[in-house]
Amino acid sequence: MLEIRDLHKTFNKGTINEKVALNGVSLKLEEGDFCTIIGGNGAGKSTTLNAIAGVWPVDSGAVFIDGKDISGLPEHKRAVFLGRVFQDPMTGTAADMQIDENIALALRRGKLRTLRWGVTKEEREEFREKLKVLDLGLEDRLSTKVGLLSGGQRQALTLLMATMKKPKLLLLDEHTAALDPKTAAKVLETTDKIVRENKLTTLMVTHNMRHAIDHGNRLIMMSKGRVVVDVKGEQKKNLKVSDLLSMFEHAAGADEISDRMMLGDN
Ligand SMILES: Nc1ncnc2c1ncn2[C@@H]1O[C@H](COP(=O)(O)OP(=O)(O)OP(=O)(O)O)[C@@H](O)[C@H]1O
Ligand SMILES: [Mg+2]
Repeated sequence: MLEIRDLHKTFNKGTINEKVALNGVSLKLEEGDFCTIIGGNGAGKSTTLNAIAGVWPVDSGAVFIDGKDISGLPEHKRAVFLGRVFQDPMTGTAADMQIDENIALALRRGKLRTLRWGVTKEEREEFREKLKVLDLGLEDRLSTKVGLLSGGQRQALTLLMATMKKPKLLLLDEHTAALDPKTAAKVLETTDKIVRENKLTTLMVTHNMRHAIDHGNRLIMMSKGRVVVDVKGEQKKNLKVSDLLSMFEHAAGADEISDRMMLGDN
């Protein structure tokens, strides 16, 4: 379904700020795979997702979706078949617009983005149904400005908006890291539900080992711009934090295990 082949990316080449961010990342996902990505700070997790989304051109390597090389496509063309949710609850939705207006815009993605026709009564009914999935009572607050919602409510809404058009691939970059543990757990539960119900192929970056283990059917660990561990099937199902720690130490060295990963805050 997704294949990334030997991606390389160096930022600020030839300057004192030169940074090799991707150093030969390869990964193949099957249709419906839910793969978590874990790794220390600067391991290249976000850069991998950005390379897939086409934020900038990579130096070498290629990205295939359903066998088609999308490496030459600009970001806005890839956005049509990708869903993305980032760490910051403030991005992904427009604060000064109502919940229903935000959803309407997301649904018109790929078309002329205008609300010239307003949101129709039928649409509001449809949105109400969709919002019920989140189980946050937002279905009764369609006219509420998104800026008034909590961070968790906003992330859940962003997730819903990113998946409404059933993207070929869902990219989640620490989308619960800015939330308190209870809210994070709820948004992760919703993530599982949406991914399962829509059979979405998903890549989810997290620094929380527990979350990386508990979610998805596959787990990769990155270090220094490479994939250093790849766990799937039964091995993934039976994985424990202690296993993951020793794998990490073995593959990347203990000094790359960050406090965030150990403490298991969000
Ligand atoms: N746009 C950019 N310009 C310059 N350097 C960048 C850019 N994006 C990423 N980098 C660098 O590339 C390396 C990999 O960064 P990346 O954001 O992928 O790490 P990460 O694994 O997501 O880490 P974190 O857990 O901190 O989010 C880092 O050294 C980072 O500073
Ligand atoms: Mg990151």
